Amino acid sequence: MADKAKILVQLDTDPLPSVFDRVVAIDAGAEHVLSYGGVSPKNVVPLVHGCIFTRGPQDLHRTAIFIGGSDVQAGESLLSEVRKHLLPQYGLSVSIMLDSNGANTTAAAAVRVAARHLDLSRARSLVLGGTGPVGQRVVRLLARAGGHVRVGSRQLERAEAVCQRILAQVPGAGVEAVSVASAADAPQALEGRQLIIAAGAPGVVLLPKKIRESAARSLQVLIDLNGVPPAGIEGVEPHDKGTIRDGLVCYGALGVGSTKMKIHKTALARLFETNNAVLDIEEIYQIALNLD
Ligand SMILES: NC(=O)c1ccc[n+]([C@@H]2O[C@H](COP(=O)([O-])OP(=O)(O)OC[C@H]3O[C@@H](n4cnc5c(N)ncnc54)[C@H](OP(=O)(O)O)[C@@H]3O)[C@@H](O)[C@H]2O)c1
Repeated sequence: MADKAKILVQLDTDPLPSVFDRVVAIDAGAEHVLSYGGVSPKNVVPLVHGCIFTRGPQDLHRTAIFIGGSDVQAGESLLSEVRKHLLPQYGLSVSIMLDSNGANTTAAAAVRVAARHLDLSRARSLVLGGTGPVGQRVVRLLARAGGHVRVGSRQLERAEAVCQRILAQVPGAGVEAVSVASAADAPQALEGRQLIIAAGAPGVVLLPKKIRESAARSLQVLIDLNGVPPAGIEGVEPHDKGTIRDGLVCYGALGVGSTKMKIHKTALARLFETNNAVLDIEEIYQIALNLD
């Protein structure tokens, strides 16, 4: 008998399910995308049952769940609830990918491109906007790779809280909280850094060129994830993709975006290979590492 159609069930925590996620799913090979908005741990159980009780275990690798939406914490709670209602002991399980706000694929892409230029097991990095959902994932991947990572925030306590969270996830991680509230903080935050990844809010300049030039002699790679002008790292252009500027390797949001899209599509395709994959940040980064 012919293979059953590949169905992606898109569970979005926002009222309107993301068109972006749906289009990418179709481009990645999903034959049907069933999109649900306003999904929460309270109403998700029948949706999960609809996935696992409709096809036999031998066909369930052709049904998968994608969790998205703008609120990353809501996505994490939803993932945890969905997992509770799978029945792997009976083979009744489907693969799941979490990419709320594009945070997992974006962070994986940023760290993947950094790894092309630096040995991340020894790299000294600074993540600006390191308290946001994308920034925290970047910090986690860099810390897991083994280097030393400074987490920048306008409020030191917020950066310290992120470091504590990372230490719980990656015991012994080399993480350090730094304040980046004013220009006076720059020398301490930038000292000895080879890599800066800016994951700040859209349209906010986190690192003016003047400050970078005066305080960061060890710098080698700059990656800016903010795609809304002005750039998060002044002097890095959105389309930069390994572009050399003033002797530094630069990536802008659109330059990283093409790697992000490749990772996103490959991860979606991976969902249909088994019925028990859970693709969160670490698994998505592993996929990224295997791309050229
Ligand atoms: N290229 C892509 O494919 C792609 C995909 C997804 C997201 N993105 C981009 O990735 C970046 C990070 O996303 P996100 O959702 O994690 O960002 P976010 O939560 O909006 O902001 C991240 C951090 O930026 C800092 N921040 C906020 N407003 C600020 C201001 N006015 N001045 C200085 N710092 C400010 C905050 O840190 P503190 O309060 O701790 O200082 C915040 O935690 C965004 O620019 C987003 O557009 C790119």
